[in-house]
Amino acid sequence: MSKKFKALVVSKEGDSFVREIKERSVDDLPEGDVLIKVKYSSLNYKDALSAIGNKGVTRKFPHTPGIDAAGVVAESSDSSFQEGEEVLVTGYDLGMNTDGGFGEYIRVPSEWVVRLPKNLSLRESMIIGTAGFTAGLSVYSLAENNTMPEDGEILVTGATGGVGSIAVALLSKAGYHPVAVTGKMDRENFLKKLGAVRVISRDEADDKSGKPMLKGVWGGAVDTVGGNILATAIKSTKYMGTVTACGLTQSTEFTSSVFPFILRGVRLIGIDSVELPMDIRLNVWNKLANEWKLDNLDYLANEIKLDDVDGYIDSILAGKLSGRTLINLQS
Ligand SMILES: NC(=O)c1ccc[n+]([C@@H]2O[C@H](COP(=O)([O-])OP(=O)(O)OC[C@H]3O[C@@H](n4cnc5c(N)ncnc54)[C@H](OP(=O)(O)O)[C@@H]3O)[C@@H](O)[C@H]2O)c1
Repeated sequence: MSKKFKALVVSKEGDSFVREIKERSVDDLPEGDVLIKVKYSSLNYKDALSAIGNKGVTRKFPHTPGIDAAGVVAESSDSSFQEGEEVLVTGYDLGMNTDGGFGEYIRVPSEWVVRLPKNLSLRESMIIGTAGFTAGLSVYSLAENNTMPEDGEILVTGATGGVGSIAVALLSKAGYHPVAVTGKMDRENFLKKLGAVRVISRDEADDKSGKPMLKGVWGGAVDTVGGNILATAIKSTKYMGTVTACGLTQSTEFTSSVFPFILRGVRLIGIDSVELPMDIRLNVWNKLANEWKLDNLDYLANEIKLDDVDGYIDSILAGKLSGRTLINLQS
C-alpha cells in the first residue's frame, strides 16, 4: 500500500489561493530517482510567493511549497545514493513546480541531491537553507572578485532577513566588517550580536538625491533587496569594490548611471542559488560546514512545526520576521 504523509497543500480556488494541511500519497509525488523522508525544511521569501500564487514561482496547483528540504533517503534508483543516507536539496525546481519540503516526503532527480556535508547536522543545514546558502554564495563572490576584509566595511541590506542575517554572521566569521541596513532599528542588538559593526536605518541607505555618484564608503555590499537601495549601494562603493545582488524585496527594478562602473570599476555580481553548478554548490556547502561554520546558528533560528507554517507565510510577506524560520517535520 502506498505511503501516506502530511503536507501543506496550496490550492487555487477562483482567484484565491487556499492553504491547508492535507494527507497525501507518495504515489502522487512527481517522478524522480530519489525519495526522501524530510526531517527539516525552512521558510524562505520565495515559499511565501509560491503560496500566494506568484506566477514567476509556481504555475501548477494544487502544490506543496518548500524550496528547502533535508532528510533521509527512503528509496533510490540511482546507486550513488543509498537508503538511510542523510541528504539535502535546495534550489532547482524544488518547491516551485515540483512538490517541496513543506511535506514529509519529496521525490526528486538525483542530480539535485547534495549529501549532507560532514560537520553539519540535518537541522543545522536547514537553519542555513537556501537563504543561508545564498548568503554564503554572496560572501564567496566577494572574495572571488578580490573584495577582501582590508578593503573596507561591507554593507548588508535587508539585514534582519534570512539572507541578510546569515550574511552578517558569515562576513563577521570570515573577518569582514559588516554594516547592517535594516527597517527594524529595534533589532539593532540582534544584528550586533550576529557580528554587525554598525547598524544603519533603511532610509540612510536609500539615497533620493538623484546624484549619479556618492562618496565611496563601502569595500563592497551584499544586497538582498534590489531597488533604489541597490542603486545607492552601487554608487557608494569604493574603487573596484564588489556589490552582489540576490533579492527583490524593495523592488525588481533599479536605475543606475554607468559612472560607478566606468569611473570606479565597481563590480555588480548577480547571485543565483537555484541553477548553480554542482561543483560551486558543493564548495559553498563545504565552507558553510567548516571554515564558515557559525556558532550562533541556534540564535538565528526560530523552530516551528508544519501546522504553524500558514501564519508565518503572512509574516514573511509583511517583512516582519527576523533570522531564519526552521520547520521541524518530525512528529
Ligand atoms: N537569487 C537567489 O538565488 C536568492 C536566494 C534566496 C533569496 N533570494 C531573494 O533574496 C531576498 C531575501 O530573501 P530572504 O529569504 O532573506 O527574505 P526575508 O527573510 O523576507 O528578508 C527580506 C528582508 O528585506 C527587508 N525588506 C522587506 N521589505 C523591504 C522593503 N520594502 N524595502 C527594503 N527592505 C525590505 C527586511 O529586512 P530589514 O527589515 O532588516 O530591512 C526583510 O527582513 C528575497 O527577495 C528572495 O527572493 C534570492
